[in-house]
Amino acid sequence: MCEQIYQNPPATIAIDGPAASGKSTIGNLLANKLGYISLDTGIMYRAVAYKAIQAKVDVYDGEAVSDLAERIQIDIRPSTAGDGCQFDVIIDGEDHTWDIRSPEVNQVVSEVSVYPRVRNAMTELQRKIAKNGRIVMIGRDIGTVVLPLAEMKIYLEASVEVRAQRRYIEELARGKKVCLDEIAESLRHRDEIDSGRAVAPLRPAEDAIVLNTDDMTVYEVVEYLMGLIARR
Ligand code: CDP
Ligand code: CDP
Repeated sequence: MCEQIYQNPPATIAIDGPAASGKSTIGNLLANKLGYISLDTGIMYRAVAYKAIQAKVDVYDGEAVSDLAERIQIDIRPSTAGDGCQFDVIIDGEDHTWDIRSPEVNQVVSEVSVYPRVRNAMTELQRKIAKNGRIVMIGRDIGTVVLPLAEMKIYLEASVEVRAQRRYIEELARGKKVCLDEIAESLRHRDEIDSGRAVAPLRPAEDAIVLNTDDMTVYEVVEYLMGLIARR
């Protein structure tokens, strides 16, 4: 099979949007097609939240959470387990790939993500990783704050009902016992904090391509975006 050559692919692609809008699935597929690396920055905020829970740090104590965020070592590597997760997440030397996806982390991750020092520490790491380009970076504030000069910015939207349904199917497929209403409630909770915070709130950059994916499959979204890249 011939690999398609793109004339002028964007060196950095920012993908933002609310939880379960498809950012990581689509971002990872785009990165694979382009031969780029991808970075899901949500992993970093999840790592901070997990570490705070583990260390019994009060997530409402901004100073303590920020101290922890400034010290944390996060290593994200291609998965070795073949367990459906694209990346292994090593926090301070220990594998916590699945722990960071727990309902307990979901419940407090947006709370720890509001603190300016936490955001500064994560943003600095993210910019270092992006400095050589050829990257798809996925998050909430990539197009607006982390990489304001990204050559392509995508903002994925979908209704909370559709997003909850997607997460529900995903969790069921992993053999988890889940409740659709609880998932929807957890998404709403995070959306509200992520959109309402003072620093780096969730919103599309002015120059972002905003795509509502309620009625689009993953394949359709990827085809559409690859079409835009091919026509540049
Ligand atoms: O995968 P999902 O969309 O559920 O969430 P995530 O991308 O793993 O992000 C988890 C949380 O981290 C978000 O709800 C935000 O509170 C925070 N986050 C952020 O504040 N900024 C980012 N660039 C990425 C994530
Ligand atoms: O990274 P984010 O939290 O934005 O979403 P994701 O983890 O990539 O996607 C959540 C789930 O929705 C995954 O199981 C995707 O396969 C699914 N999805 C979908 O069914 N249709 C889309 N257009 C986008 C995502």
